[in-house]
Amino acid sequence: MQMTSVTAPHPDPSGPAQHAGRSDDPRGSAAQADHPHPPHAGEGAGRVDWTRVREDFPLLRREVHGKPLVYLDSANTGQKPAAVIEAVDGFYRSHNANVSRAVHALGTEATEAYEASRKALARFLNVRADELVLCSGTTFAINLVAYSWALPRLKAGDTILVSRMEHHANIVPWQLVAQRTGATIKVAEITPEGTLDLDALRRAMTPEVKLLAVAHVSNVLGTVNPVREICREARRRGIVTVVDGSQAVPHRPVDIAAIGCDFYAFTGHKMCGPTGTGALWARREHLQAMPPFLGGGEMITEVSFDGTVFNDPPHKFEAGTPNIAGFVGLGAAVDYLEGVGMAAIEAREAELLAHMTQALDAVGGVRIFGRAPEKAAVVSFLVEGAHAHDLATLLDLEGVAVRSGQHCAHPLLQFYGVAATCRASLAFYNTHEEIETFIAALQKARRLLA
Ligand SMILES: Cc1ncc(COP(=O)(O)O)c(C=O)c1O
Repeated sequence: MQMTSVTAPHPDPSGPAQHAGRSDDPRGSAAQADHPHPPHAGEGAGRVDWTRVREDFPLLRREVHGKPLVYLDSANTGQKPAAVIEAVDGFYRSHNANVSRAVHALGTEATEAYEASRKALARFLNVRADELVLCSGTTFAINLVAYSWALPRLKAGDTILVSRMEHHANIVPWQLVAQRTGATIKVAEITPEGTLDLDALRRAMTPEVKLLAVAHVSNVLGTVNPVREICREARRRGIVTVVDGSQAVPHRPVDIAAIGCDFYAFTGHKMCGPTGTGALWARREHLQAMPPFLGGGEMITEVSFDGTVFNDPPHKFEAGTPNIAGFVGLGAAVDYLEGVGMAAIEAREAELLAHMTQALDAVGGVRIFGRAPEKAAVVSFLVEGAHAHDLATLLDLEGVAVRSGQHCAHPLLQFYGVAATCRASLAFYNTHEEIETFIAALQKARRLLA
């Protein structure tokens, strides 16, 4: 097997990564393109030197409680490669200024860097840059749809359809809208193995349903939902679709145009980018019709006491100073992920998932939640006789970081009748050795708790 190392994009330390939008931008015209290109695909996991890739992540070298860190909490937040850390650092050291306000050189550089990241994200996800609203993450993005699209439109008698496996960020905003409009919430149920019951979902798409909110990938079960098929069915019935892509974008090639949804929300910190970054993609007609969510600077073209003329989308929805350095970092994260290759990342994580699932099944007394045939590398589990928090605490003492609790998905845990689970979530920078360490730590914890 030929092993070729990934040339991870390390930015010029004197410049704000590759996203400065400068004339010497190494990504050339592609970085400047207004029109999207399909995401690349086809690389296999075997063509990447994963040991080299792991070395790009400085934090993974640290120890916890005197043990090498085994980070199995990437569904919570992802670790950052040096290229992203350096891009943020380089921006503050050499280019820091506010965007879209100053004509001086730094102001221009900051604006170009920020907009170059929007273009990089658009290219990565196969959408138009002017349909991408940059914001603090999925929670903001879904609330933007709730307050600007749903609140002015929905009324008593309308229904919002959400799946059982949604994160609270894709439940609570709809409940707030329902309370204020008189609309009702309907739940699309799942099977015990953790897949959406598609027949039931189709039947639930009745004429009263105006909006359907569904996760692309479940943060608890790892289930990959057939969002393309779901959105096609919804569209045929005139139902507007909101897809939560938080757990999909970091782990597989995502082509939003091919999905055919109305809105797609995602978060930057799970995809190697800084916290406080993310975006909402929306069809242009929605962005034009929607009123602004927040008012302030940046989102206007003219203000007088008689009224305000709003900026064009997406700027109409980006009030105030954004997380400029964060988005420069997110642009570097996109470059980095493209450098590794999303198809290779998906294949690598599938291998790691198969290993972890097999190893957990071999332990005995382990209940895994979520056995969907198409599944991302998230494993929620319980060990007979052990509380999830006790288990996570003992694993931590062995250097293994897993999340325990309800994973912001109370209705899903209610479905399974459990108060909490442990969740081990993988990323491409994890190793097979780490899975063995995790299993050994789990067996030790189990003995202690018996
Ligand atoms: C599926 C899903 N949706 C939404 C969110 C919320 O993302 P954020 O907290 O970045 O807004 C998360 C984060 O865990 C998630 O996993």
